[in-house]
Amino acid sequence: MPRETIAVILAAGEGTRMKSALPKVLHEVAHRSMLAHVMAAVECAGIREVAVVVGPDRDDVAAEARRCYPDVHVFVQHERRGTGHAVLQARDRIRTELDVIVLYGDTPLITTDAILALKTSLNEGSSVSVLGFHATDPTGYGRLILEGADLVRITEERDADDATRQIRFVNGGLMALAGPTALSLLDSIEDNNTKKEFYITDAVAIARSRGLKARAVPVSEETVQGVNDRVQLAAAEAVMQRRLRERIMREGATLTAPETVYLATDTKVGRDVVIEPHCVFGRGVSIGDGAVIHAFSHLEGASVGKGATVGPYARLRPGSDIGPKAKVGNFVETKAALVEAGAKINHLSYIGDARVGPDANIGAGTITCNYDGFLKYKTDIGAGAFIGSNSSLVAPVSIGDGGYVGSGSVITKDVPGDALAVARGQQVTKAGWAASFRARMAARKAAKAKG
Ligand code: UD1
Ligand code: CA
Repeated sequence: MPRETIAVILAAGEGTRMKSALPKVLHEVAHRSMLAHVMAAVECAGIREVAVVVGPDRDDVAAEARRCYPDVHVFVQHERRGTGHAVLQARDRIRTELDVIVLYGDTPLITTDAILALKTSLNEGSSVSVLGFHATDPTGYGRLILEGADLVRITEERDADDATRQIRFVNGGLMALAGPTALSLLDSIEDNNTKKEFYITDAVAIARSRGLKARAVPVSEETVQGVNDRVQLAAAEAVMQRRLRERIMREGATLTAPETVYLATDTKVGRDVVIEPHCVFGRGVSIGDGAVIHAFSHLEGASVGKGATVGPYARLRPGSDIGPKAKVGNFVETKAALVEAGAKINHLSYIGDARVGPDANIGAGTITCNYDGFLKYKTDIGAGAFIGSNSSLVAPVSIGDGGYVGSGSVITKDVPGDALAVARGQQVTKAGWAASFRARMAARKAAKAKG
């Protein structure tokens, strides 16, 4: 019977190189905190017991951990005395019947597969397993010393001699400890190194000295890529974006220039969706089957129905709910707007706090005037209504089903269904006025030139 697992996520890092008011693990990659990425990988691996070790006075990190996983156990590491010391803050939760997997909160690219590979290694008889990778530049990493398939010890760079420093197979940071021996190994770690820290990596040599097996599980460098500054944050973002794009393409979306499309971790895209170049998706967007998002559109907190078209140059703000086969065209902004099936808002409009009924047609330049500087008000446009171009709908106001609004109107009163409302200055036409004006002015100019 494989044992259950507890994941201990170390998130007590100061992150000083981020030069930020925000703690490092709360910085976001693809609109999700690094901590949340790690916790999601843990959850997908089927691990139900999760502990997070935070620095002192880090209620914000604790809150994010709880938001991701309400049953998380939060521990505070009051003094930074090394990774071994950090893990032991969670000792109340470490029991012989649970395997322990230690992860770092600043490695957002960690995958569920890598976590499961560590579990497998324990199931195959290892007592301590780590993720190793072949580093292009091993500087700063703990070197993995092997004997055949067995891991003998991990030597931190600052404690390594020249020969050891040549080794390029290094510790990615994640470590798994088999339940029966985990706590006794962790408790045996000493701070006898140049940094006077308790290194979790010493658990390997201690296990070996007791005749226990240790193993290194190879993964790609990318999987364990850590984030210490904003340059590395951007590098992690690039990898995450590539993964997200590949995921939606594999699920049936066409991206004509994938490298120009920016997604959020929670972006949901159906089949046969086409996303043209230079589109940006914030949090909370879902796109139904067969919809087309034309170039240069920006969407956030929006849902787009089946077969709808958006853009080019559309901006869908939070609360936009675009129905099936509806059209939102160029330079249209929507916010908290329900645009029902088949409705069209093709050009240059702002539709906010509004409902646009099925098959309604909103002319170019229509604006819902939803705000008086204090409060917001709703506009309701009925099914099949026709709003003439360049109209202002001053909310709260409603246009009944099938109602017409003349172009250039400023509508301040409700328009009943099937009625026409025109609210603009009356046109005055004076025959021949322009010709006589021109003649008069030309004569005046000529007289002035003569002096
Ligand atoms: C660690 C490993 C090294 C590995 C590297 C991979 C040790 C001793 N070394 O080195 O073998 O190659 O990661 O990136 O483990 N932390 C705490 N409390 C502490 C100390 C650290 O929470 O007292 C957290 C940090 O916030 C960080 C993680 O543990 O998320 C790793 O600590 P760090 O000091 O960055 O270890 P490295 O020297 O990078
Ligand atoms: Ca580090």
